[in-house]
Amino acid sequence: MELLREKIEKEGQVLSDTVLKVDSFLNHQIDPMLMKEIGEEFANRFSDQVITKVLTIESSGIAPATFLGLTIGAPVVFARKRKSLTLTDNLYTSSVHSFTKNETNEISVSKKFLSADDNVVIIDDFLANGEALKGLMDIVNQAGATVVGAGIVIEKGFQLGGQLMRDQGLRIESLANIKSLANGKVEFFD
Ligand code: G4P
Repeated sequence: MELLREKIEKEGQVLSDTVLKVDSFLNHQIDPMLMKEIGEEFANRFSDQVITKVLTIESSGIAPATFLGLTIGAPVVFARKRKSLTLTDNLYTSSVHSFTKNETNEISVSKKFLSADDNVVIIDDFLANGEALKGLMDIVNQAGATVVGAGIVIEKGFQLGGQLMRDQGLRIESLANIKSLANGKVEFFD
């Protein structure tokens, strides 16, 4: 996706060989025009599937997931990382360890919003080690729903998550796939 690549090249800051800061359009400030195109691109990529629900994880997955939901007319559910005051029981839960942040989050989704009839696309902003994807897949499996694939805004292809999940048979559609962040430079896979 050309517009996304340009945005990464122009505004992305390489913080280290493994971390890319994109807070001017994805992780803090959100560019709604870009998000709209991202939602439409995900919809195109999954146009061969009937999707009944879009599933993501708070917080940065919510914007791209919502624009996909808007484009295809499907509801969007986000897994919560923090305990909610009103969301107390009847939950699917899973554990997500972040190697990047060195913390583990218990994630949860109300059983009200996912069922065995659902065909789910999982959306997230970054794919690094695949831990968030694994946790979300676990939740979909607990619900007995079907995962039709995962849509990722930025995959860090030099980390192992994408390979690992594809090897398990998951269809992954990445809108930008980064080959390297070495020497302060973003290099993409073609
Ligand atoms: P994984 O799910 O693929 O295993 O990823 P990892 O544990 O490495 O990532 C944990 C958090 O760090 C996620 O955000 C993920 O989006 C973010 N992250 C990973 N790599 C990068 C990167 O290169 N740049 C940026 N900006 N973020 C990265 P999170 O904790 O869920 O935060 P948020 O969604 O609330 O923003």
